[in-house]
Amino acid sequence: MAVRELAEEVLRPSAARLLESMRDIGYSFESALADIVDNSISAGATHIAIVNDLDGLGRPYLGILDDGRGMDPDELTEAMRHGSRSPSEVRAEGDLGRFGLGMKTASFSQARRLTVVSRKGGRLVARRWDLDYVIDNDEWLLQKPDGDELQRMPLVDQLRGDGTLVLWEHLDRLDAVGPAPEQAYAAINELFDTARAHLALTFHRFIAPESSDGVERIAMSINGAPIEALDPFARLMHPQSDAHEVEVVGHGGSDIVVQAFTLPHHKRLTLEQLEQLELGDSLVQTQGLYVYRARRLIAGGTWLGLARKAELTKLLRVRVDVPTSLDAEWSIDVRKSRVRTPAVIRDRLRPLIRRMTESAKRPYTYRGTKQAAAAGLPLWERVEERGAVRYQIRREHPLISTLQESVGTHAAVEPLLLAMETTLPIEALFADVAGNPQIVRQHEMDAAELEQMLAAFVEAMAPGKDTLPAAIANTVLSTPVFAAQPSARSVLERLRRIED
Ligand SMILES: Nc1ncnc2c1ncn2[C@@H]1O[C@H](COP(=O)(O)OP(=O)(O)O)[C@@H](O)[C@H]1O
Ligand SMILES: [Mg+2]
Repeated sequence: MAVRELAEEVLRPSAARLLESMRDIGYSFESALADIVDNSISAGATHIAIVNDLDGLGRPYLGILDDGRGMDPDELTEAMRHGSRSPSEVRAEGDLGRFGLGMKTASFSQARRLTVVSRKGGRLVARRWDLDYVIDNDEWLLQKPDGDELQRMPLVDQLRGDGTLVLWEHLDRLDAVGPAPEQAYAAINELFDTARAHLALTFHRFIAPESSDGVERIAMSINGAPIEALDPFARLMHPQSDAHEVEVVGHGGSDIVVQAFTLPHHKRLTLEQLEQLELGDSLVQTQGLYVYRARRLIAGGTWLGLARKAELTKLLRVRVDVPTSLDAEWSIDVRKSRVRTPAVIRDRLRPLIRRMTESAKRPYTYRGTKQAAAAGLPLWERVEERGAVRYQIRREHPLISTLQESVGTHAAVEPLLLAMETTLPIEALFADVAGNPQIVRQHEMDAAELEQMLAAFVEAMAPGKDTLPAAIANTVLSTPVFAAQPSARSVLERLRRIED
């Protein structure tokens, strides 16, 4: 009788090969750092310091030090396990973890040796994965440095209260940048520049929370220099962005909160502010959705395929807050750098996004109309009809009615207005604005023209008087063509006495 083979057997992965191949799942230096910072935030840290230096033997190391709740020996051992938590486990609201892998995979992507030292309730404990040790033994051998070795380790002396130090040594990925020390030094500096910008953006809602975020401020630094928050929505900038209404998309008992912001027009920003908001690219490229999971930025500057990146929507940025309870559906990857939106949510987002991009095009194509909607006397108006958009001259504008009255007949004025409307050089305008918006200028009035125009407005609004009611004066002055002229008020006051 043939021996029946067992229907199954235990097949363990090779520790050596698995660990080595896990190094290349695609972390960048900055995304690896961000993953370690995630853990510190989840542990309730309020100070997170990133430090790099050379150890006693002149080898570079990098440490991430926090004052979070720390771990006791058992917790630390468990934390070192690959897959310490299940991805299907729903995380607490402020927990930025996901797969129970981040600390290990992120660290190995940059270093061959990961030591985690933690202090909790006065007790200091360390655990270490050394890639070469694991490979030599082809076994998951977790080391437990203690005594003198522990005390001599870099940065351990800074772990005074509760907190955790994640130490990366044997930074072979940095060795690759060049043999000469100054080459390595330059490369590290460049990496840190990129990392600083990445962390400033990824964690801006922790570094500089808005009051509505309801979280405590967390201080982060790189080699002692504080990381300043980089807020893509210009909420804390002057001028500030315009906040659109908050929209809530309910799904499976959880709320996805969506809010659009229109950035201040580039003409109102300093060069430095503009550069900051460009996030290392152009406004066109960085427009779109910014998806946050538990306030941590996962993906930014993408429409997730729901809209096109257009010149006309380049000031539009949309904040999407996704709770951790929807992790499974949003398929957030291990590196937390990619999201896949579930089809049901895409379908709910699509009309929202369309409405937002449509309304974003409006003020940008003709800012005057938007401002005039609130105040002033616009000459042009934007008309949307049966899916088409056209611009027309408002027949009820005071200058137009005055003209019609003085000519004595509508018939004489109307052809001129029609001619202007039907020959508006839309395509040339669009090409110029899309090509280089900075060079497109409205005709700039000189002082005489300003006075002439103001006089015409005033005469049209209150003919034959030498006073002007303040309400009318304000309406005139808020008209975009005058609002942009600092001297308009004094000119107006010279023309007419303003009365309350
Ligand atoms: N800085 C830290 N302070 C306290 N606990 C930590 C820290 N870093 C990691 N841990 C613990 O280690 C566990 C594993 O971390 P990680 O591998 O990043 O997976 P995840 O963040 O997905 O849980 C965390 O769930 C947490 O319990
Ligand atoms: Mg983590």
